[in-house]
Parts: sequence; C-alpha cells; structure tokens
Amino acid sequence: MRPASSLESFASPDHFDPELQLFLEKACLRLCEWFAQAGDRGPLPMLSALPDVAPSLKGLSTDSLLDDLQIVMEGSYQPSHPGALAHLDPPPLTASIVADLICAGLNNNLLANELSPSLSRLERGLCKWFADRIGMSPESGGVAASGGSLSNLMGLVVARQQAKLQNNSNAVVLASKDAHVSLDKAIRVMGLSSNALQKIPTDQQGRICLQSLHEKLKSLRIDGRECFAVVATAGTTVRGAVDPLIEIGKFCSREGLWLHIDGAIGGVFALSKTTSSVVEGMSMADSLTLNPQKLLGIAKTSSLLLVANRAHLVSAFATGLPYIDPAWGDESHGGEMGLQGTRSAEVLKLWLGLRQLGEEGIQNLLEASIYRRSYLEKKLDQTFMTSISGPLHLIACTPKHVDSTLSAYWSKATREKLLEENYMLSRPIHAGRYYLKMVMGNPHTQLRHLDKLASLLNQSMET
Ligand SMILES: Cc1ncc(COP(=O)(O)O)c(C=O)c1O
Repeated sequence: MRPASSLESFASPDHFDPELQLFLEKACLRLCEWFAQAGDRGPLPMLSALPDVAPSLKGLSTDSLLDDLQIVMEGSYQPSHPGALAHLDPPPLTASIVADLICAGLNNNLLANELSPSLSRLERGLCKWFADRIGMSPESGGVAASGGSLSNLMGLVVARQQAKLQNNSNAVVLASKDAHVSLDKAIRVMGLSSNALQKIPTDQQGRICLQSLHEKLKSLRIDGRECFAVVATAGTTVRGAVDPLIEIGKFCSREGLWLHIDGAIGGVFALSKTTSSVVEGMSMADSLTLNPQKLLGIAKTSSLLLVANRAHLVSAFATGLPYIDPAWGDESHGGEMGLQGTRSAEVLKLWLGLRQLGEEGIQNLLEASIYRRSYLEKKLDQTFMTSISGPLHLIACTPKHVDSTLSAYWSKATREKLLEENYMLSRPIHAGRYYLKMVMGNPHTQLRHLDKLASLLNQSMET
C-alpha cells in the first residue's frame, strides 16, 4: 500500500507557500502576545498543564498545533518578567529570536562545510572576532558548543592532549572550590580518577587562593601526580567572583601548565572597554569558555570554546569523516573541531544579536548589569545580613550568624514570600549555608524593582 503523503507538512520547493506564511504569522503572533503578558504574570507560571505527548493517528491541523503550543507556552518560565532574577537566564534579544527561527528553517549542519557553507565560515569568523577582541594570539580560534559544560569539557580534553597525558588516569586538574560542577562532570567523562579535580580554597572574596595553588602543585609533584591544567573561573556561579587571572596566567606559564579560563559568566565583560578590567588577564588563556546565553540575551544555547591555537582543537578532535568529502581549502569540518557531530548553527543568533546591539548596546548591557548589582548591594541593610558578590552582576545574601538549618529555613520561607510578590530568586548552598541569589542580567529590571526587593529582603532579616 502506498503511504499517505505528508508533503503538505514541508515548505514547497517550487513556489511561495502561503500556508507556511500564515502558520509562521500565527505562531509569531502568539509569541508576541506571550511576551506582552510577561509583566502581568510572574516569572513562574500559575499552572503547568501539558497537551498530549504522543502523536495522534492523523496529523493535526496547524491551528490545533498552535493550541497545543499555547498550553506549553502558558506553563513556561518567563525570563522577561522584571522579577526574573534567579538564574543566568535573561530574556532573548529580538534578533536572536528571529535568527533562531531562520536557523531552524535553514536546517544546516555545522558538522561539515558542505552542509553549512556560509554558516561554518560565519562561526569561524565570529569565534576569531571574539578571540581577537579578548586579545588572544593570532593563531587563536574557536568553536561553538551547546552550553558551557561542553565547552569546559572540550577545553580540558584539549589541555590533556597537549600535555600528552591521555593515558594517565591519575592526572590532575586544579581549580578553586567554587569552580562550576561541570568540571566534576568533565573529570568523570574523561575517565580520570575520582580525585582528579583538586579543589583549592578561596579567599574572602571567593577567589582562588594563590598560595594554596602553589602549595598544592608542589605537593602533587612530590607525590608523583601530573597536572595538566589549571582552571581559573571568571565569574563564580553563586557570587560572580573572578579569580586573579593575571597571576594564575603567570603561574601557569612558569610551571608549564595549561590555563583554561571558565568565563561562562564573566567572559563577555571582556568585550567592552569600559568593563574589561573586571576580567583582566583573559588573553592569557590557552582555552576559554564563554557563554553569551548568560548575559547578552542570546537565545539558548550559546557558548563558545576559544583556544589560543586553533590547531589544538583539530589535533584533539579530528578523526577523519569517512562519509563526507574533505573540507575545502585548509579548513577543517566543524565536526572535527569539537566533540559534537551534527549541530545547529547556533552562531546565527549570536551573530545577529550582537549586530543588533552594536558596540554601544553591548557596553550598555554589561555596564547596566554591574550597576544594578552595586545599586542593590548598597540598598541591602548589612546590620543583620551578609551579602557576597564580586565585580560582576551577581549577588547573594543570607542572615548574619545563622547556621545551615536556620539559613535553610529563612531562605525557603523568604523565597516563597518573594515569589508572591513576583520576585524569583534562587537558593544556592554556599560554604555550608543557604543564600538567596540575585542575577542582575535582566534588562527589564528597573531601580524601582530593586528598591522594593531590597526592602522585602531587609524586612525578612528582622522577622
Ligand atoms: C561558571 C560556570 N561555568 C560553566 C557553567 C555551565 O554552563 P551551561 O549551563 O551552559 O552548561 C555554568 C552554569 O551556570 C557556570 O556558572
């Protein structure tokens, strides 16, 4: 029996498709309405229903599909609400939304040049632009990855390969105790021993303690354990602390160690002259993770792994792609520059988003986020409160002199109360106590919102 045709579900290759146009217009209208209602609702949905999960026997009409989509949209987190301050998940730039839509339509594949002729070049070019802006070497380059965890993993794989320690499961990575958990994951995936990630204490500002770093390396060497990378964090996850990058860079070149900088949070501050001083030293990285999805409003996911020498990516990941023609010229296929094979052209939304912002827009976003953090910090009454932050746009607080149990109770109750007022904060555990964390990357958050938030937090300390 001949199967029924599903051709009408694809855009026609022969003529302009009015059905597709209507479908897209209706979908766009619903999305615009969803944004328009953001202010009236809270960051979290009231209810989270789900439409049928399985496909029905007969395919649905576009209107039914849109109705189903609407149900999912109604149950979604709303990053555009000015009180959405819990995580590193800002609202998307409008150009980034459009680029993501076009990206889906193009359906190109960054695996190979012939599957993404212009987009592969765009990705390489944009990575090079980032690396140059940061001040990395002329040989620098990079690759996009679906998230900072993957960029960190790839950075460490390259580092280990360059150190020729692939066969040493006892090899070690050094990072601060506040470094991101993606490093723990990377260690597991890389088949290293469970104590391969050696965590170094931090100082009062949450930065890696240099003295301890020196001592740890010395004692590892006495024990005969080889180290293949130091990971410096430019923006820790709870408070946005920046490790002393220049000193760590000098230490690594003295000791012949690879420097990977996890700049998933703070890396983008290097893009603007007025904010780059907060992450000074990033140019010293051998590899560097950067997540434009976390602050610049690039729709998820958007992360880059930059390397001082782009040939190192190829030497770590190239396998040959026996089912694909060789790449053109002296270029390598995208699939030979990183762990991922097939992947979408995430670069498109990053490129278009940055072009929409322009240099001035990028600078404004970065400066405003730091300003909101410092404004809020000043409004928090430090009499009963400990607040921790760094030079970036993150701040967290907890009552003074409370233990873990009391901080857990306070943070849970206060988070719930704040949610009733449509402020969504997160509740990380840090150094044995619970905090409420606020990320000032939401451009819709105005000073009046922060005044009210500070006042609610100050009141919570008195009760
Ligand atoms: C410092 C840091 N590095 C890496 C990551 C991992 O990034 P992703 O969630 O994109 O995998 C995060 C996530 O919050 C982070 O805070």
